[in-house]
Amino acid sequence: MTLIFAHRGASRDCPENTMSAFKKAYELGADGIELDVQLSKDNVPVIIHDPTLNRTTNGKGKVRNKTVSELKFLDAGSWFSSAYQSERIPTLDEFLIWAKPKDLIVNIELKINKEDHLLIEKVHEVITFHRMANRVIISSFSREALLEMKKINPDYKIGFIYKKSRKVKPWLAAAEMQLDAVHPHYKNVTRKYMKSMHKHNIKVRPYTINHVKVMKKLMRWNVDSMITDDPKTALLLRGGLHE
Ligand code: G3P
Ligand code: MG
Repeated sequence: MTLIFAHRGASRDCPENTMSAFKKAYELGADGIELDVQLSKDNVPVIIHDPTLNRTTNGKGKVRNKTVSELKFLDAGSWFSSAYQSERIPTLDEFLIWAKPKDLIVNIELKINKEDHLLIEKVHEVITFHRMANRVIISSFSREALLEMKKINPDYKIGFIYKKSRKVKPWLAAAEMQLDAVHPHYKNVTRKYMKSMHKHNIKVRPYTINHVKVMKKLMRWNVDSMITDDPKTALLLRGGLHE
């Protein structure tokens, strides 16, 4: 059965990467939540997708140039709808406190800047503090970041994210990084690809699937998980499939 991961939370219904989006995903019955982390100026892992504040908050400039208390002043919801004006940028710590007692898979995507590997250390610290190393999936577009994470704790489950590219040979990448899973752009996934990945015992969690037709096709092909902005539709389709 394909697991449904809410991309940046239930980001079709709520502002992405906010506690409202995460709570909504949980209420809908999503199996997992995908979120993006990066560091504040004072090295606290915070949950936000873009390197700048401009699109999803009322602030401006780089996330990395603001302390966590400065970030906490910002409105992270009004850009989506005025109903969410009290929404704040969550820290990873706050999110894990909320997620820990719940039956939820947590997929932390490291939004890493090449020269800024401190993110790896700080994310590891927060996860370890909450004793959640065996509960999380760490994913990234950066091979180096994933290799480093695995070196820090070989028990981490990691997933390599990649866009459509002929250069990526997923099974070679999986062997090199001891991957449990690949997180390909959904356009990489074909029936043949699925067979081959499962033959190599590699899980496939494509992103970001928002169209019903693609959802249905990928569920038929048995993708292990599906990362979507619209977990409600994906869960309904999956229910129908298993009736
Ligand atoms: O983790 C899959 C997906 O989130 C990667 O792309 O840009 O939405 O973080 P992006
Ligand atoms: Mg992401």
